[in-house]
Amino acid sequence: MSSNQVQLLSKIATGDGHGENSPYFDGWKAYENDPFHPTKNLHGVIQMGLAENQLSFDVIQEWVMSNPKASICTLEGVRNFSDIANFQDYHGLPEFRNAVAKFMARTRGNRVRFDPDRIVMSGGATGAHEVTAFCLADPGDAFLVPTPYYPGFDRDLRWRTGVQLVPIICESSNNFKVTEKALEAAFEKARKDNIRVKGVLITNPSNPLGTIMDRETLRTIVRFVNEKSIHLICDEIYAATVFSKPDFTSIAEIIEEDNIDCNRDLIHIVYSLSKDMGLPGFRVGIIYSYNDAVVNCARKMSSFGLVSSQTQHLIASMLSDDEFVERFLAESAKRLAKRYRVFTRGLSQVGINCLKSNAGLFLWMDLRSLLKSQTFEAEMALWRVIINQVKINVSPGSSFHCSEPGWFRVCNANMDDRAVEIALTRIRNFVLQNMEGKAPVKKQCWQSNLRLSFSSRMLDDITMSPHSPIPHSPLVKATT
Ligand SMILES: Cc1ncc(COP(=O)(O)O)c(C=O)c1O
Repeated sequence: MSSNQVQLLSKIATGDGHGENSPYFDGWKAYENDPFHPTKNLHGVIQMGLAENQLSFDVIQEWVMSNPKASICTLEGVRNFSDIANFQDYHGLPEFRNAVAKFMARTRGNRVRFDPDRIVMSGGATGAHEVTAFCLADPGDAFLVPTPYYPGFDRDLRWRTGVQLVPIICESSNNFKVTEKALEAAFEKARKDNIRVKGVLITNPSNPLGTIMDRETLRTIVRFVNEKSIHLICDEIYAATVFSKPDFTSIAEIIEEDNIDCNRDLIHIVYSLSKDMGLPGFRVGIIYSYNDAVVNCARKMSSFGLVSSQTQHLIASMLSDDEFVERFLAESAKRLAKRYRVFTRGLSQVGINCLKSNAGLFLWMDLRSLLKSQTFEAEMALWRVIINQVKINVSPGSSFHCSEPGWFRVCNANMDDRAVEIALTRIRNFVLQNMEGKAPVKKQCWQSNLRLSFSSRMLDDITMSPHSPIPHSPLVKATT
């Protein structure tokens, strides 16, 4: 860009706050150049960096087909076309808000209820985070965020708002749990740096860990924010991806406990249907705040990112169908559990462990033993080898601000069983090759079938998905 152009455009337009120039995005390009296909490109790159839930699409599709009235572009539903196409109220369709509130309660075990009047729409959780940050903080203010965290937060909360994120350093020694000590240390660090802390942002269940927060940890965080008089934003967009015990506990349950003293004006939930229902393209995001002023302001701001009325209409019908919701949630959890089992078993055959988890669309894989040294440089070197030689696109821990090198996030719900087997075979083979000279591992029968392709291309990662700067190739979409 010439200096002339720089002067013509705003700081946001000319800055790199979006993060698209990070090396991780280079991989997008390489992946797009060489996408795996089970018949047309068997040796292509397998996409394991996308936190998409594609395992239960058939259940949703079936419902759509048996409920043509729910779509306004069908013979059965077209009678509602003009009403819905005209609708533009930023409060949203009442039936949409009712259905989402009910679904949020259902995905939290019906142990809490949500007030439809507090449901504010946004363009996905992405939009919800930005709107929440705009409502709670001024440029230069900060939110404390436990590490490792979803890299998109660096864009969603910071880019256009001018807000900062300060890490709450969590460690593998206690399975990356958030402790009071870590909260205090982050707060103190910000204070020393003259940064005003406006809140804590947690993701429960966690992306990238796939773990859920226990009640005691949630209570600790609620006590902390109350003591400091700062906000708590809880990203609960993976609430219904919990596939085994223990059950998920929402912050909504904690603040209703008798023994907790909480100023509810400080509590805000971000939700979306992108992960739980596997509908990221619908851009259904929700801000649920217990603070009236935030609900008010967020609703006004939602004009910049409404959910289309057509989508609201469809989702309202779908989520009002109790029988469907029960079936979908049960089936989705069953399939996610199976994926988790297949993956963890496959990796354990070559001694690779993952953090024990029971939620999410990914695994937090421990490859510390494969690092040449325990440094982030070594992690990047290993990551490039994995992309270029193993040809799977996983995401290095450093992109999640993990404080320890050697961890990688592996998405496992955005592909079919065949791709899973091939990916596992590639990983196991790679690990075995790297173990040569270390402890002997019995050669497996699948090894002989494997041929690694070496590529000189710079490949990548896509940890900031869901909004790739590069369009998905239809080929990739069709196969993963
Ligand atoms: C923790 C977390 N929050 C927010 C998002 C963005 O979700 P949405 O597609 O609803 O914007 C993601 C997507 O990966 C995520 O993992």
